[in-house]
Amino acid sequence: MKRIPEPEELMDEADQALAYAEADFSASNELFIELFEQLHPDEFSGTALDLGCGPADIPIRFARRYPQAQIDALDGAQAMLDLAQAAINASGLEQHIKLYCRYLPATRLEKKYHALLSNSLLHHLNDPLDLWQTIGHSARPGAAILVMDLLRPDSPQQLEVLVREYAGDAPKVLRRDFAASLYAAYTLEEVREQLAAASLQELEVVQVSDRHLAVHGKLGGTP
Ligand SMILES: C[S@@+](CC[C@H](N)C(=O)[O-])C[C@H]1O[C@@H](n2cnc3c(N)ncnc32)[C@H](O)[C@@H]1O
Repeated sequence: MKRIPEPEELMDEADQALAYAEADFSASNELFIELFEQLHPDEFSGTALDLGCGPADIPIRFARRYPQAQIDALDGAQAMLDLAQAAINASGLEQHIKLYCRYLPATRLEKKYHALLSNSLLHHLNDPLDLWQTIGHSARPGAAILVMDLLRPDSPQQLEVLVREYAGDAPKVLRRDFAASLYAAYTLEEVREQLAAASLQELEVVQVSDRHLAVHGKLGGTP
């Protein structure tokens, strides 16, 4: 099935950001934490960067799972960051998670991060290399990389099955956004090509659910 890009990269409309923040993504966000545990079996205690953090559910889960971690989380949409800050304040994790309003590609970040995290950002980008270049610029040697995103279905029929299964009871706006995200998502092969173009072939691309792919691995070099 041909890819159809998202109409907008950023989710900067207050209503859109709120609808997204109120949706239940606990199953996929918990899967993200489980994948990181497999990637990094030792207790993580370094500095992590979450790219396209949205309402910060993943940074909050990550900080609860790894109380020694420091997390920088960035997003280009201030409407999302306002909701993210409220959620962080409510969780009492202000000392562990810092938010930054930044637009990718963010190639002037310090090369200091021990872990690079991103969930559901890749399919939003007009140029997917913006994500891979930002990761290449900001990851320390040996950093753990975990990027999870939707996987584009083979056909509109398969897409409709997924929308019914996972958003059948959701408000219309979320059903529409989920379908648009599935159309905009990449295939495993396309992501492998992106990694090759960004000289990040050492990362592995795998399907991790009926609708998700993950890119994971450790970058070369001595930590
Ligand atoms: C679908 S949301 C995912 C949010 C979060 N990672 C999660 O898993 O719930 C995608 C987020 O990426 C942000 N975004 C899209 N393009 C961006 C860019 N070029 N730079 C920074 N943030 C971007 C959007 O504003 C939005 O908050």
